Amino acid sequence: MNDTVRTGLEMSEPLVHLHDVAVGYDQPLIEEVDVEIQAGDVIAVLGPSGIGKTTLLRTIAGLVKPLSGHVELGVAPRGGVGYIPQRLGLVSNLSVRSNVEMGVRVSLSKWYPPFLGVPKDHQGYAQQAMEDLGIAHLADHPVRILSGGQQRRVATAKTVAQRPKLVLADEFLGELDDDNVDVVMRTVRHAIESQNSAMVMVEHHEELATQVANRIWRIKDHRLVEELTR
Ligand SMILES: Nc1ncnc2c1ncn2[C@@H]1O[C@H](COP(=O)(O)OP(=O)(O)O)[C@@H](O)[C@H]1O
Ligand SMILES: [Mg+2]
Repeated sequence: MNDTVRTGLEMSEPLVHLHDVAVGYDQPLIEEVDVEIQAGDVIAVLGPSGIGKTTLLRTIAGLVKPLSGHVELGVAPRGGVGYIPQRLGLVSNLSVRSNVEMGVRVSLSKWYPPFLGVPKDHQGYAQQAMEDLGIAHLADHPVRILSGGQQRRVATAKTVAQRPKLVLADEFLGELDDDNVDVVMRTVRHAIESQNSAMVMVEHHEELATQVANRIWRIKDHRLVEELTR
């Protein structure tokens, strides 16, 4: 399906393979989903509200069980997948730094004791992510005093600091102004390229999505249609 020229390394194993998956809760929302996600992909998921885009993301993340078929993950379930929910999932009373460090913690062994904070060799990831997203000067401020766009940068920094192989983002460009979109997308793209990872983003701004994605998945009539591959 995707005949873009890829290097041997990227060609090896898909990061995720959905095998004839039915996505939904009690009733199927999207059926016969049979797709692979390769390293380097930036995939935009488009479709009207309520059609099942968020549920598809949650199914890929392993948060919702497929009604049939199965999801084959080629990445570590812990730390390998970074999920940026539509409602950001930040702790508003904690500082920007603490929130971003939570992303770093996700990539640590689950046995790493919380009272030790973040190990030295990992501390740089949080700092670097905050600098890349232009929020380092806000590091000690509680998240609740930041604007919507700044909070979105914090959520992005948290995910970038986790260094996941797969980023799943739910309408996260939505309320950003143009400058923010540039910074956020540049940083995310850089993270994806340097770590040879991939991203699936649900986006209702079609124009924006088409600019940043190399693949478009449109959800239509309970099916996933691949519209663009480049
Ligand atoms: N936890 C849930 N249990 C049952 N139905 C749900 C749940 N979450 C969402 N839905 C329903 O699934 C449908 C698709 O929702 P969603 O995936 O959020 O759509 P989209 O992201 O495309 O707007 C909606 O009708 C919604 O009400
Ligand atoms: Mg949604």
